[in-house]
Formats: sequence, C-alpha cells, structure tokens
Amino acid sequence: MNKKRLVVLTGAGMSAESGFKTFRDAGGLWENYNVEDVASIEGWYRNPELVTEFYNDLREQLEKAQPNEGHKILAELEKYFDVKIITQNVENLHERAGSSSVLHLHGELTKVCSVNDTSKNFDIGYRRVKYGEKNSDGELLRPFIVWFGEAVPLIGKAAELVRSADIFVVVGSSLVVYPAAGLIHDMRGSTQGYLIDPQEVSIPRGVNFKIIRDVASSGLAKLRDELLKDLN
Ligand code: APR
Repeated sequence: MNKKRLVVLTGAGMSAESGFKTFRDAGGLWENYNVEDVASIEGWYRNPELVTEFYNDLREQLEKAQPNEGHKILAELEKYFDVKIITQNVENLHERAGSSSVLHLHGELTKVCSVNDTSKNFDIGYRRVKYGEKNSDGELLRPFIVWFGEAVPLIGKAAELVRSADIFVVVGSSLVVYPAAGLIHDMRGSTQGYLIDPQEVSIPRGVNFKIIRDVASSGLAKLRDELLKDLN
C-alpha cells in the first residue's frame, strides 16, 4: 500500500527542547543580538569577523545539543508515512534523529560556502572557521546560511512538497518570516493541516489548520497518536 505523504514545516520551536534558542520568544536569540548585524547580508559586509564568530559559537552549541522527543517522533513516523521535512532551522537535529528527507530552507550550520557562489558549499562538521579562510577557488569562506536580504533558492522545491502533501504539519514557527511563512498557502484544500505551537500563531483566514497548543515533543506525540488511529 502506498504511504500517505506527510510534509512537516519546522521552525526554531522544534529545537527549543534541545536547548536551542528560538529567535523571537522572550530570551530568544534576537534579544542578545542585532538581527541586522549577524543575520543579514549587509551585516556580513559590515563585520564579517563578528558574523563568523557568531556562527562558530552556534556550531559549538550544536555539537553538544541532542535531538528531542519531537525530532525522534518525526523520524519514527517514516514507518507509516512518506515523511518530507522542510525546516527553517540551520542545525542538523532532524538528520541526527534519523529523518531521511530534510530540506534546509535557510542553509546549514555545518557547511560553509564561497562568498561569491553559495552553490559551492561543503561540510565542515562542528569546527570553528577562522575569518579569512579561503575556498579552493581562492574565494573567502562564509557560513552557508540564507540571510535576510538574500534569495531562498529552495523555496520552489519546498512549495512543490507542500502541494504534494496529504497531511501538512507546521511545528514551532511564528510564521512571520517570508517566503517560508507563505508556504501555508500552497496547501491544497484536501490536505489535512495541523499546527503545533505552545503560543498562538496568527494564521491568515481561509487556511485550515487543526491547532495543537503544545510544545513540539508532547504535541507531536498527540499528532502521532491521532494519525496512527486514523490509519487503523
Ligand atoms: N515547541 C514548539 N514550539 C515552540 C516551543 C516548543 N518547545 N517553544 C517556542 N515555540 C514556538 C514559539 O511560540 C514561536 O511561535 O516556536 C516559534 C518560534 O518562532 P521564531 O523564533 O520566530 O522562529 P522561526 O519561525 O523558525 O523563525 C523563522 O526567522 O530569524 C529567522 O532565519 C531565521 O529560520 C528563522 C526564521
């Protein structure tokens, strides 16, 4: 029997229980840093050393972090569904939990790329980058992160996945950053939609989600139970 397609869009809240700070909650990353300084292309050109260090620190934090129960449930659901994850997160916790199909819309923390060509990217694991390190083509290395002010090359692929979903789930995203937030409009009318978040997330009228007001781990456990009940 063909498995139903389950497409999941995750945001920073997905990894909050792994000790990774969200961006916009109280105590979030953007309370301690200026977004324009460390997450915009202009910020990079203003002070590339500061930006390099910011991502070095995040990479170090990632090495110590562990996937949480929510990540593990999404990996486990592959037994029953054709699961495709679209994540706005730059860490690799979905992969480390065992998910086999993860599209990183906003780049990957464990990769760097050439300043002139982000398609020339490669894995560096968790190591710190020294500002000034060059790519094999002689170009300066930068974090492989999609910053504010930059195009999101994988958005078309992500939209296609959402359109193909039988079930579409959003977990832990404030849905304020575009174009990722606009993906909810790609959901077909016949798709079952769910949104898991402990806080209220504003959703445009006409987009039909069943709301599970909970954190990722217990919210996804509830979703799993509901989806598996429907399968039987
Ligand atoms: N479980 C689930 N959701 C949670 C949890 C939790 N334990 N804790 C917080 N949340 C929710 C918050 O209520 C909020 O709705 O996660 C959401 C996090 O929102 P943001 O911090 O805005 O993160 P995100 O939506 O991923 O941001 C999108 O913006 O800063 C850029 O590029 C960055 O990818 C990021 C993008």
